[in-house]
Parts: sequence; structure tokens; C-alpha cells
Amino acid sequence: MATRKKVLLGCTGSVATIKLPVLCEKLREHNIDIKIVVTERAKHFLKDAELPQDIPVLSDTVEWAAWQDRGDPVLHIDLAKWADLFLIAPLDANTMGKLASGICDNILTCVARAWDPIKPLLFCPAMNTKMWEHPVTAPQVALLKSWGYKEISSITKTLMCGDTGVGAMAEVDTIVHTTLRSLNPWDPYSPPDLRHKK
Ligand SMILES: Cc1cc2nc3c(=O)[nH]c(=O)nc-3n(C[C@H](O)[C@H](O)[C@H](O)COP(=O)(O)O)c2cc1C
Repeated sequence: MATRKKVLLGCTGSVATIKLPVLCEKLREHNIDIKIVVTERAKHFLKDAELPQDIPVLSDTVEWAAWQDRGDPVLHIDLAKWADLFLIAPLDANTMGKLASGICDNILTCVARAWDPIKPLLFCPAMNTKMWEHPVTAPQVALLKSWGYKEISSITKTLMCGDTGVGAMAEVDTIVHTTLRSLNPWDPYSPPDLRHKK
């Protein structure tokens, strides 16, 4: 029997975080184990989210409470080891900037900084069109991709703020499909992603 794959899902302070329950539900249909790391801002969008009780939602609060003394777990390191794949959906402009410059001041950015580059890291940008079109965005996306991170491109639609344009998070089905393909690169029904070959 095939071993269950483990996906660490990272969420940032974008409205697209409200899609987390449906994203989890669809990933779990494929027998994937999920843990979630959130930034403090992402928590705001999860208030009323109906996440399955058995999926841990880990934040700075949890991480700092877990370490009291020598021998206690360092959660971001344990999570980076636990997961087969890190999926950051949504990745907002702020955290994108942090990742691109190596800043690691919360649990999500610490996991990213401690991530083993042999394992896939996928990111789904989500931001207002003007933020997306800011000249700092394209070089940051290109830098993340140059490290082997895989972009799941944002799409054009009417955004939550009412503006219409590019910058919305990719559709959940696209994210799930790309995640499955990255987890199972040797599946004959999905093209291999050689960058992540061990
Ligand atoms: C209602 C609301 C919605 C937001 N949506 C987005 C968004 O979709 N994309 C984005 O880049 N920033 C968005 N922001 C701004 C981020 O929340 C802000 O930059 C925050 O500092 C991000 O923190 P984090 O990256 O630590 O999660 C939004 C802010 C608010 C108040």
C-alpha cells in the first residue's frame, strides 16, 4: 500500500485564506495528511472557517508555547522535516517580500527558511492588481522560482476588493492538481517535475 503523503499548508494575510477549508477538503480526498501553519494576519480570515478538527493549525502562539526548555520541540524545524511538500496558499505580498529577502520572523517564514530544497515548495500569489503590478513583484517571483520553488500563477478576475484584474489566487482545483503532480512526479498520468527528483 502506498504511504500517505504529508502536505504542510501555509496561509498568509490574504482574503484568499477563506478558501482554506475547501482546499483542505479537496486535498484530503486524495488521502493526504495535512498540517497548517498560519501567520498572525491569516488567523483573521480563519475565524469562522470550518476546518476539520483533526487538522492542526499552528501559529507563532503555538510554536512559542511549545518551547519552554532544552529538549522541547522546535516546531518550525519539526514541520519542515515532517512534510513531503510545502504549499503556501495564499502567499501575500508581504510574506513574498520576506521570503525573497530571507526574513524569517514567524513560524511560516521559518519553515520556508529551513525547508530542504530537495522537497517541493509551491506558492500561490494572491494580492490586489496594483500590488501585483508593482515593480518589486516580478523580480521576487523570479527569485523564488530560481531557488526551485514552483509558482501556481495567480489569475484575472474580480477581486474581493471589487477591482477586476490579475492577482487573484489560482483556482482551488488548479492548486490541488499541481500539488498532486508535484507529490507524484512519476505517476504516468502526470508529467514529471525533474527539479524535485531525489
Ligand atoms: C481585509 C484585508 C485583506 C487583505 N488581502 C490581502 C491580499 O489578498 N493580498 C495581500 O498581499 N495583502 C492583503 N492584505 C494585507 C496583508 O494582510 C498585510 O500586508 C499583512 O501585513 C500581511 O501579513 P502576513 O504576510 O504576515 O500574513 C489584506 C489586508 C486586509 C485588511
